[in-house]
Amino acid sequence: MADFQQIQTELLARVGESTEPRSVLRAPELRELYSGIRDANDKAAYGAQVNELKAQLEAAISARESQLAEVDLEPIDVTAPMDTNAPVPSLLPTEQGTIHPLSRETARIIDIFARMGFVAEQSREIDDQYHMFETLNFPKGHPARDDYDTFMTVETDADGEPLIAPAHTSTMQNRVLKKYHDKLEAGEAIAAIVPDRVFRNEDLDARHEHTFYQLEGVYVAKGVHAGMLIATLQEFLQAYYGQDLDVRVNPFYFPFTEPSFEFALSCPFCKGQDSNCKVCSGEGWVELLGCGMIHPNVLKAADIDPSVYTGFAFGCGIDRLIMMKHQIEDIRHLESAKLDFLEQF
Ligand code: FA5
Repeated sequence: MADFQQIQTELLARVGESTEPRSVLRAPELRELYSGIRDANDKAAYGAQVNELKAQLEAAISARESQLAEVDLEPIDVTAPMDTNAPVPSLLPTEQGTIHPLSRETARIIDIFARMGFVAEQSREIDDQYHMFETLNFPKGHPARDDYDTFMTVETDADGEPLIAPAHTSTMQNRVLKKYHDKLEAGEAIAAIVPDRVFRNEDLDARHEHTFYQLEGVYVAKGVHAGMLIATLQEFLQAYYGQDLDVRVNPFYFPFTEPSFEFALSCPFCKGQDSNCKVCSGEGWVELLGCGMIHPNVLKAADIDPSVYTGFAFGCGIDRLIMMKHQIEDIRHLESAKLDFLEQF
């Protein structure tokens, strides 16, 4: 009997302290009391005693649950004057992210070209050799195909040729020319840009990435000439950098443009004074873009008659444009996800 009273006291005390008082009904001591009924001399009296304890516990549990429910109910006086010096609680994280410099600058570039009348198109991340080479006047076996260190996939296209990760945005030229072909018949110009990601199996250094961004531009109409190409690009660079720059235009070679040129910017890091400069390799110039008058074969591949229409195209490295603007000494910072770098933008 002493045991019974002791258990009763202990269980009721446990209910009074517990934050989950109902769990006391599952206590092993209570289970033992119930199984003791079987062996008791006066089963009826013992059983009634155990039931009485169970009823006491239920009552104590209900009381404890009500007490717990009241603890958090502190009334708030919504009419009380506000403490204007109290810190303002915020639901926002204390540190917010910023727009990645590649996204932000690409939006600026698109905006400049949009104001010049160019529409923006999107490229793709897997393409075929027809758009990478054939439509761009690289016949099969053309040695210039090797200049683009393309990543090939094991999957093949309808001709059994491996699909590729585009090595330049020029893969979109044929599609853009076909899409806006009708404009020419309407007496308007085709004016489009394609800013997107490209991939090359490159040796990496301060100005070469394997994955980077290019901006393709095409402009086709009647009477387009190289002077318009140079003027458009100079206008763009002036608007983007907000100042006249030291630009060098050199003749170059691309199978899909004739004549072709390359634009380079005077190295903003060493100004041509450091023969060991990691950015320009001591050359004093950093190549920014390739361009030229669209080759007649490229126009023909898009069903445009080159004896009636002419056009220019350009392909500019977006990462390089940003590097030069913000004096970023290594292009690889842009894709490095380093917060101390990104927080500067
Ligand atoms: C091309 O990719 C041509 N498609 C450009 C073009 C388009 C010419 C239309 C004529 C008409 P190129 O391989 O030179 O050309 O690359 C163009 C620009 O992309 C370079 O001037 C440079 O700014 C950038 N670029 C090239 N390779 C890399 C690289 N590995 N990392 C970062 N930027 C690069």
